[in-house]
Amino acid sequence: MAAASVGSGALADTVAATPPMGWNSWNFFAEKVTDADVRAAADALVSSGMRDAGYVYVNIDDGWQGERDAKGVIHPNARFPDMKALADYVHSKGLKLGIYTSPGPKTCAGFTGSLGHEAQDARSYADWGVDYLKYDLCSFIEDQMQAKAPHDPAQQMRLMTGAYERMHDALAATGRPIVYSLCQYGWDAVWEWAPGAKVGGNLWRTTGDITPEWDRIYAIASQQAGLASYAGPGHWNDPDMLEVGNGKLTPAENRAHFSWWAMLAAPLLAGNDLAHMSPEVKSILGNREVIAIDQDPLGKQATRAYAEGEVEVWTRPLQHGGMAIAVFNVGSERHAGTHPFRLNLAALGLHGTQQGKDLWSGKPVSLADQQTIALARHDVWLVRVDAPH
Ligand code: GAL
Repeated sequence: MAAASVGSGALADTVAATPPMGWNSWNFFAEKVTDADVRAAADALVSSGMRDAGYVYVNIDDGWQGERDAKGVIHPNARFPDMKALADYVHSKGLKLGIYTSPGPKTCAGFTGSLGHEAQDARSYADWGVDYLKYDLCSFIEDQMQAKAPHDPAQQMRLMTGAYERMHDALAATGRPIVYSLCQYGWDAVWEWAPGAKVGGNLWRTTGDITPEWDRIYAIASQQAGLASYAGPGHWNDPDMLEVGNGKLTPAENRAHFSWWAMLAAPLLAGNDLAHMSPEVKSILGNREVIAIDQDPLGKQATRAYAEGEVEVWTRPLQHGGMAIAVFNVGSERHAGTHPFRLNLAALGLHGTQQGKDLWSGKPVSLADQQTIALARHDVWLVRVDAPH
């Protein structure tokens, strides 16, 4: 039945059985994104090999919307002359199209939102061929929650969850499998109610917005501690889209950010200008063994095994009894250079020397208890151990 096809139930597990992968326009193009930018991103996903590595969603974020016509039907603005043609183009490349709206009257960037037009908009998206929707709370906060229940947080929360349920039902009624991405910045323990049958979220943002700065990336990563049990096939914590290749992130920071998101079973939505990325950024986003950690079919998000000084060690179980281990040097400027650190295998539940593979050098490694690991500032050591003991 169509009503069970979005978010929860059998189809949910097919639409987001592993964390969604692709690209989103916001982090680089913001509200100025155009049809040409989206096509160029689709082309680059194919030519870079990223599509074949799993990046299939091409997601248009805020900024595509125009006005409604007399019948209330939403039309794209002049930068998107024909949304159906764009969807056809994206599909012709073996990719899928994502779009963005808000339950409020306006989106966060001030474009037309879906308030009062939820079912109509869901039908438009399905008619165009949309495969993914990001639903961003934005002006629903002031326009509905604060206006209707100014001093009543419980009622505000009911209004908010009601809005997410309404769009879930609208998407389900289209009969088209559409990944449902909640964006309300991690409020009200969204991980507890988003994956349920009523809201049927396939992913939900756990924090406010990411920026291409190490401190922000590290802060967001830290806030994922404790959320592992909420993630699994069909329903994922979303620590926001990738900034790999954006801003002034160093090669180490790009590697660490990507490794951390892979450990977290996070959606891997590249947020850079794919048509003009450096070979180094391409090789980070395209590292198939790191992607395989993210996409491990068990869907078990990493937990922080322990932290010592400015080094954090995270682990996650993998299929066939394997384990991924990530050691991050999160140290500050003061500690630039190498950072001596001793690995405590017992704290990871391991006994004696382990054989693994360093997923950034591609080389086999032995992990001995109390061995010293030298890590540059903001760098990562990411190891897969196939037979931990
Ligand atoms: C924010 C959202 C961002 C982006 C932006 C668009 O609320 O968290 O990811 O979608 O709105 O205006």
